[in-house]
Amino acid sequence: MPVRVCPFTAEGIAEAASALRAGMPVAVPTETVYGLAADASSDAAIAAVYAAKGRPSFNPLIVHVRDLATAERLGEFGDRALALAQAHWPGPLTLVVPQRANNGIARLATAGLPTIALRVPAHPAMQALLAAVDRPLAAPSANRSGAISPTTLAHALQSLEGRVTLALDGGPCAIGLESTIVALTGGPPRLLRPGVVQIEDAVAPSGGGVEAPGQLLSHYAPAKPLRVDATSAEDDEWLIGFGAVPGDSTLSAGGDLIEAAACLFERLHDADAGLAQRIAVAPVPEHGIGRAINDRLRRAAV
Ligand code: TXA
Ligand code: MG
Repeated sequence: MPVRVCPFTAEGIAEAASALRAGMPVAVPTETVYGLAADASSDAAIAAVYAAKGRPSFNPLIVHVRDLATAERLGEFGDRALALAQAHWPGPLTLVVPQRANNGIARLATAGLPTIALRVPAHPAMQALLAAVDRPLAAPSANRSGAISPTTLAHALQSLEGRVTLALDGGPCAIGLESTIVALTGGPPRLLRPGVVQIEDAVAPSGGGVEAPGQLLSHYAPAKPLRVDATSAEDDEWLIGFGAVPGDSTLSAGGDLIEAAACLFERLHDADAGLAQRIAVAPVPEHGIGRAINDRLRRAAV
């Protein structure tokens, strides 16, 4: 699959914007590192990003927006979050805040969590793109899972070779280090990932050293007991089917793993909200994005 590189021109921005609106992932420049962006309101577009990165698990993604006003429509900013946003945006600071209800963000983008990570990037090409798309863009770093974050377009394309069809060229990243992540979800600010923006009073969570962000998350899990590899429902179970195993709902009747990833959190939330006391999920094949689906189901089952 040859990749098409759009220059940072009015035409290039328009082309990247229409691809994003059509649900395609696009490699994009930011001032920190290159990202693999997708329409944050589309579960299917986010699923395509996970598939391209080959991530074996679903971590919540950073949602990039044009400005603070847009961010405030998606998340709840207390005084401290507002002050930090005003001091550092646009720039390399990501704020994790409580999510607003019905904000239109795909559940897969936040991995089902009640919080959302928001950032207003400073790179002029990313700013122009956000204005043209006029939708929030979810973007993890544009590398294969397990590889380092790319600070040039060449690195991004090398890492994602054959897995991305469109990229926006914004030159090398000025900062070259991922954004600082601070959580403001109650209590003192917590430093989830250090970066060039220093927040003096942010505390490192869980007793001292800063851990990898993925390990700090309280991952979304349904409140009800969950059983995996179920081929039929037992008493008082809501069965989420897959492929040939029908259910009360299904991840994908046709056995499509990307479709399954896109609706996973929605199906779990629905099952949790329903009348049955327990949840069962049909077997999902352990390959491709199926590994990420199974990782999440296994965590929910313990
Ligand atoms: O500089 C950056 O932040 C780059 C550019 C592209 O913006 N993006 C980036 O994304 O580094 P990523 O996916 O590689 O790292 C985002 C991290 C995830 O590992 C996750 O732990 C954390 O942000 N995160 C996202 N949403 C969160 C949430 N609701 N609660 C806690 N952590 C969250
Ligand atoms: Mg990353």
